[in-house]
Amino acid sequence: MAVAPRIAVVTGASSGIGEATVRALAARGWRCVLVARRENRLRAVAEAIDGEVELCDVGDRDAVTAMAGRVLERHAAVQLLVNNAGMPARGTYLTVAPELVEEVTRVNYLGGVWCTRALMPGLEAGARAGGAHVVNLVSVAGTVAFAPAGAYAASKHAQLAFSRSLAAALRGSGISVHAVLPGFVETEGFPQKGVLRSRLLGRFVIESPQVADAILKAIDKNRAEVTVPWFPYRTISVLQTLAPGLMGRFTGMADYRKVTL
Ligand SMILES: NC(=O)c1ccc[n+]([C@@H]2O[C@H](COP(=O)([O-])OP(=O)(O)OC[C@H]3O[C@@H](n4cnc5c(N)ncnc54)[C@H](OP(=O)(O)O)[C@@H]3O)[C@@H](O)[C@H]2O)c1
Repeated sequence: MAVAPRIAVVTGASSGIGEATVRALAARGWRCVLVARRENRLRAVAEAIDGEVELCDVGDRDAVTAMAGRVLERHAAVQLLVNNAGMPARGTYLTVAPELVEEVTRVNYLGGVWCTRALMPGLEAGARAGGAHVVNLVSVAGTVAFAPAGAYAASKHAQLAFSRSLAAALRGSGISVHAVLPGFVETEGFPQKGVLRSRLLGRFVIESPQVADAILKAIDKNRAEVTVPWFPYRTISVLQTLAPGLMGRFTGMADYRKVTL
């Protein structure tokens, strides 16, 4: 008898890290449910990997509840949720538009909270059937506040707190929670090579498949928190805790180029 494929729900799967992640999961035999808003992009990726499409704005709690209802009707058990959907919010707290502060909080932080809560019955069923995982795609900005991305960093700090708190709440439940913290990654929403002013930081920009690989390794090795790449970003996170004054001087010097995105 054929074994049913494991089900992964990946938010923000229409481009960048999410797209690379569903491609890597499908190559390993997972059946993926792709969640995002741009229908054409999402359908193109889903067709390439024989996945399922769910159009949903993760910042809209009612839309997330409806999306999860549809997914759970098709799949009683979900073995993996990747909370990856996210957006940038460039500008310091003195210049950023108030609406952007609200939106980035709704999408980057609350989006993962609503998706996890709404899909919990499926994850619990997955846990009973052998184990389930939640991966929260955070950022090094969840540990260090880069001045020209203040509201983005705050949303990622909140997301990391959510991830750690959820991991503690689910200990022993059969659902493991992992936080993956990438440094700068070249993607559509975050075209780092073009916007980073610092040549030094520009040297450490990586590509999406490297992050997808880190997600799969975090699941396989049951790692609670993974920074990718480890150097220099883990050092930066540790320095933030040990020497916040020094880090404040460094992050205050960093800036984005003035470009229209
Ligand atoms: N690139 C980096 O340097 C970097 C570093 C650390 C962490 N991250 C994090 O990695 C994650 C993925 O970003 P990326 O770099 O791969 O950027 P990306 O290529 O722009 O992808 C962002 C994805 O999120 C989706 N999305 C955005 N807002 C959404 C919403 N309201 N509802 C549903 N889906 C939404 C987008 O799809 P639609 O537009 O089709 O909805 C897209 O699929 C984000 O959480 C980001 O914060 C990125």
